[in-house]
Formats: sequence, structure tokens, C-alpha cells
Amino acid sequence: MTETDMQALKRAALDHLWMPSRDWVKTEAEGGPQIAVKAEGIRFTDSDGKTWIDIRGGYSSVNVGYGRTEIVEAAHEQMLRLLYYLQTSTTEVLVRLLEKLAEISPGSLERTWPTTGGSEANETAIKIAKSYHKRTGEAGRYRIIGRRGSYHGATQGVMWLGGSSSVSDFQPPYPGIVHAPHPKPYRCEMGGTTPSECAVRCAQAVEDLILFHGAKTVAAVIAEPVSSSVGCAVPGDEYWPMLRQICDRHGVILIADEVVTGFGRTGKMFGLDHWGVAPDIMTMSKGISSSYLPIGGAIVSREIADRFGTDDDHFRQALTFGGHPVAAAAALKNIEIIESEGLVQNAADTGAYFKERLTGLMDHHRMIGDVRGIGMMLAVELVSDRDTKEYFPKELGLGKKLTEKFRRESLLLETDGRIIGFNPPLCTTRSDVDEIVGVVDMAMTEAESELSMSG
Ligand SMILES: Cc1ncc(COP(=O)(O)O)c(C=O)c1O
Repeated sequence: MTETDMQALKRAALDHLWMPSRDWVKTEAEGGPQIAVKAEGIRFTDSDGKTWIDIRGGYSSVNVGYGRTEIVEAAHEQMLRLLYYLQTSTTEVLVRLLEKLAEISPGSLERTWPTTGGSEANETAIKIAKSYHKRTGEAGRYRIIGRRGSYHGATQGVMWLGGSSSVSDFQPPYPGIVHAPHPKPYRCEMGGTTPSECAVRCAQAVEDLILFHGAKTVAAVIAEPVSSSVGCAVPGDEYWPMLRQICDRHGVILIADEVVTGFGRTGKMFGLDHWGVAPDIMTMSKGISSSYLPIGGAIVSREIADRFGTDDDHFRQALTFGGHPVAAAAALKNIEIIESEGLVQNAADTGAYFKERLTGLMDHHRMIGDVRGIGMMLAVELVSDRDTKEYFPKELGLGKKLTEKFRRESLLLETDGRIIGFNPPLCTTRSDVDEIVGVVDMAMTEAESELSMSG
């Protein structure tokens, strides 16, 4: 692309594109938007010809890495053979995918309602939970318990599940959503001083909420096994088994949002495999196709799905592009690659090495308060004082400084000065990790010297 073409393209983007989480005035002032033109492995090249490491793995979604021709060919073949189908029929490739999902999913999860993405998958899960209770004579169960700080999607219902300030423009809130604390061992809202104590108190808080509102009004609890929206906090081992028991005790449906954690990201095929817990409904997207095409789904236990088995009682929902055969072909091939190339194990092993290297930075960067996460889902939390865990004042502009230095060194990584999150493709190697950690180390050293801080 010539310089003139590139400038014209940027202008057109500034004039016509409404970007997520950004405004076009600031984007223009910063010389943006960045326009990606090609990618391979964990790196992509932009329209300025600069090659970057995509430390965010797309949107925590490019699990097998970029440029996998096998996936492209599988989608291409399917598109030529059968592009679409009547929603009241199905396709071979979708059935094969759903069979595969049932095989690799925990517990008795075996019937999938296919969607095009993660928000739709969570909306679907909640609708299934409510309509299941109606079919068992408990139509009064309408409340959904989410956790403060979680993210489950952008659509009208699920955007309220996490209770973050980013939804304040869209009042009033969706009715019936109740918020529980998030088990964040480094800053436990319930005052727990160890991961175990925090886990037990936060799980107990879910039960307290159920009892307070009356179990007969609660339809479901939704939670991510490990949540990137709260900086990859890994709950203590007690949390998930307790949540399972609490839901069983009160007839509440347990929904695990595995949109990010699924398909190897945490070093197991699904996040909940770390604790041997099977949810009643599990939602998936992102890594299911490594972003090659949009697809997602809610996989449901046999016990729940069987309530919808008769003609009069079917689940009342349709999505034109849910389970699109071309996307299903890409997903099936993607899962085959994840399995045949041992990418789940690579996420576990290289992720452990990555975490060890980041933890090593704590010895000479006092700004690091905590290093946490699991597999290829890691985060560093920055604090001005390790004892008080106070954040740096915003006026210091630490986030901006670090982000600029990361960008200078071709690391596609942003920080708000509090959390730096790492979720690269699962095919990242140890030498990639060394390169990434080297840049983070250098950026911190420079920022410390500019802010006259000791390391
Ligand atoms: C945990 C989680 N759930 C759901 C979603 C929503 O997925 P989508 O953006 O595909 O609608 C996201 C998106 O980032 C997510 O992180």
C-alpha cells in the first residue's frame, strides 16, 4: 500500500468506523487507527509495515495463532459444498462439531444451542435456565447471580451481570440481577487473607445471597472459572467445588462462562477442569474457532436439556447465523489442531514459564505488587506501595508511559497503570516469552527512571 493509499484508508476509517471502547477524535490525534493487514503465528503487520507481537491473542481469542491454512481450507471447502441451511434442518459439519463438544466437555454436558458469539451464548444460557425452571413448576425463579467486575458480554441483558461502571449509560438495569463478590485473593472484598479464606468467604456470600432473596426466586449463578476482567484472579481451590454444592443444595443452575477460558487457554481444555467441576450449562466462543470465524454456543446438561424434549415444550429462540456451517467447519478444524499439536499442554507449560519470568521481575521492580493467572491467561498488578497495595496516582501517567514504551518495541499491549494482562496465542514459545518479558522489563526500568522511582 502506498503512503497516500494508507492515509486515505485511515481517513475513511476515522469517518465511517465506530470503534469499540474508543473515540475517533482521540484516535486521530494519536495517529490511528492502526490497521492490521496480515498476520502469522503470534505476530501481525499493520498498514505502516510494522510487525507486532499480539500479546492479547486477538481478544483472548486467537488460540492456535494466525495464518493456519488448514482452517482456511476447511472453511473454504464447506463454503463451496454447502453455504447455509434451513434452520429447521442441520448440516453434517455442525453435527460433527457438536458431537466433539459433547466429547470434550465435562460432566453430562451434551446438547449445544449454537450461537455466533459469547454474548449470545450467555443470553441463551440464561434464557434456558429461566425456561427450565418454568417447565419444572418453578416459574418464580428469575433472579440471576453474577459477580461484581465480571464481563459476560455487551448485549442488553448480560451486560448487567458484572455490575461494572461501563454500563451506567444504559440505565435502568435489567431486572433480577444480583451481584456477589468476586474471589480475588490479592484484594479480597470479603477480607480473606489467603486464597482459601477468600474462596470460602466469596462462595459463602453466594449462598447468603440465595438465602436472603429466597432460593425459590433464584434461577442461576453465572461465573467465569478465571476472569480476565478482574486481572486473571485465580480463585482458591475451595471456590468452585463449593459453588457447585451450593447450587445443588438450592436447586440453582450453575452456568460457567468459558468464553475466554475454554479451548486450552488456562492449560486445561476448559477452565473448570482445574477443579474437576461440571457446570449445568457452559458457554463458549472465542477459542472455539480461534477467531477464524464467529461461532459460539451454550452446552447444556442432559438433565436440563431433556426438559425441552417434547414438541410443545421446545426452547423458543432462533438466530439466523447460529451454528453457521462454514464457522462450524473452522471450529472443528481448530479443535483438531489444538488437540493434535498439544496446545493445551503448551499453554500449561509455556504459561508456567511465562509466569515464572514475570514473577522474577518483582525482584527489581517494586511497582509490581502481584503476578497471577494460569496458563496463557496472566496478569501483573502495579502498585505504588506493596504493603498498602495503593495504586499509582493517575496524574503520574504510568499507564500511558508504559503503553507507549510497549508500542515503541512492537508489543501490542496496553495498561491503565494498574493491570497488565497477557493472553497470547497458545502456540507462543519460550523464546517469544523471553522477548516479551525483556520488553516489559525495559519499559518498567525506563518508567521508573522517568518517575524517579527506585526499582
Ligand atoms: C468472559 C466473556 N464472556 C462473554 C464475552 C462476550 O463475547 P462476545 O464479544 O463474543 O459477544 C466476552 C468477551 O470478551 C468475555 O470475555
